[in-house]
Amino acid sequence: MRMVDLIIKKQEGKALSKEEIRFIIEGYTDGTVPDYQMSAFAMAVFFQDMTDQERMELTMAMAESGDQIDLSGIAGIKVDKHSTGGVGDTTTLVLAPLVASVGVPVAKMSGRGLGHTGGTIDKLESIPGFHVEISEEEFIGIVNKNKVAVIGQSGNLCPADKKLYALRDVTGTVNSMPLIASSIMCKKIAAGADAIVLDVKIGAGAFMKTEADARALAHAMVKIGNLAGRKTMAVISDMSQPLGGAVGNALEVEEAIETLKGRGSKDLKELCIELGSRMVFLGGKGKDLAEAREMVIENLRNGKALEKFKEFVASQGGNPAVVDDYSIMPQAAFEKDVLAKASGYVTEIVADHIGIAAMLLGAGRATKESVIDLASGLRVLKRVGDPVSAGEPLVRMYANKADFSQSEAMIQAAYTIGNEKVETILIHGVVTD
Ligand code: URA
Ligand code: CA
Repeated sequence: MRMVDLIIKKQEGKALSKEEIRFIIEGYTDGTVPDYQMSAFAMAVFFQDMTDQERMELTMAMAESGDQIDLSGIAGIKVDKHSTGGVGDTTTLVLAPLVASVGVPVAKMSGRGLGHTGGTIDKLESIPGFHVEISEEEFIGIVNKNKVAVIGQSGNLCPADKKLYALRDVTGTVNSMPLIASSIMCKKIAAGADAIVLDVKIGAGAFMKTEADARALAHAMVKIGNLAGRKTMAVISDMSQPLGGAVGNALEVEEAIETLKGRGSKDLKELCIELGSRMVFLGGKGKDLAEAREMVIENLRNGKALEKFKEFVASQGGNPAVVDDYSIMPQAAFEKDVLAKASGYVTEIVADHIGIAAMLLGAGRATKESVIDLASGLRVLKRVGDPVSAGEPLVRMYANKADFSQSEAMIQAAYTIGNEKVETILIHGVVTD
């Protein structure tokens, strides 16, 4: 096989076989296919697309290009969740103990990553003592015993994707549906998921800005998962404003605990119930989705999800007293409110600007070397549709530095206050095939 022939075949719009796709990905991983040929191939895919079968084969080839996590030592169906990313997305912190409390094993591998706030691991490290540096054996042991554990990303997962993503970034081929969908799905499959619930975000704070794009991505990923033998579903959820109230690390842990207590913001709770019931259903609990939903709601109500969170924290060295005393987490030295300049209704909050404001306060990483300040971040006090009077606080900022000017300006610019009350939709749809 010659790479140039495969580039031309795709350029002509023909479908590649499994062997041809393997040849490309294995060659790219070991360096026998150079970047310039892979660039040409990515551009051919960008214009000619791929069939569902090709997308699945590409995903599996990338999933098998490096280490794969073997979760076979864990009893039950291992269901993973993936969010395409948003601002202040606290769902994983709620879902892990919630789903585990119903008896579905949650063996979560999580990264730190770049962005508005830290990753799930950074957030959890706000809890004194909590650590994710555990061996794979220990990890599997904890999940078998307690149904939930989180481990830091280790090993060499999907090296083909890592290389290709960096190449796409500089060749104008990031925005290709088959390449995005396979890139996301290969990492879930390599991390050992038997079933996958996807949370595809839509709106100004999300990777997909329109409903049509979000639906197309959801369909693409659900098809890949199901063709690969992993039951997959997607929920399309709103990210036209930050999810819930908190954007930060310790602040989001507090928000997650509030949600597990049955309190907290309505939208975060609703999305957790939606995603959680699908995870529980795919995990084989409940005779149908309605029953799975009942189980999830019941465990939020009766305190079992909160108990599971305490158990989870303690099993990884953290202090479970955090549930009753948030002040044992890092606290910011300074806080300041951003005040409304006009009266009316909040009509828009540009979510990614709120995210950047949180990052500037210290909550996230701009580069891999940045140090996260776990105490900093913000609370969204007024949401889209809320009435507001001039001078009322819109957002409360927390930081360990006294100068809030940059974040304050970003938050002011992110808010629009108008005369009409606008309605918001949290769940835009569900994709199952
Ligand atoms: N996230 C990924 O992991 N890959 C993409 O291509 C896009 C978003
Ligand atoms: Ca939040």
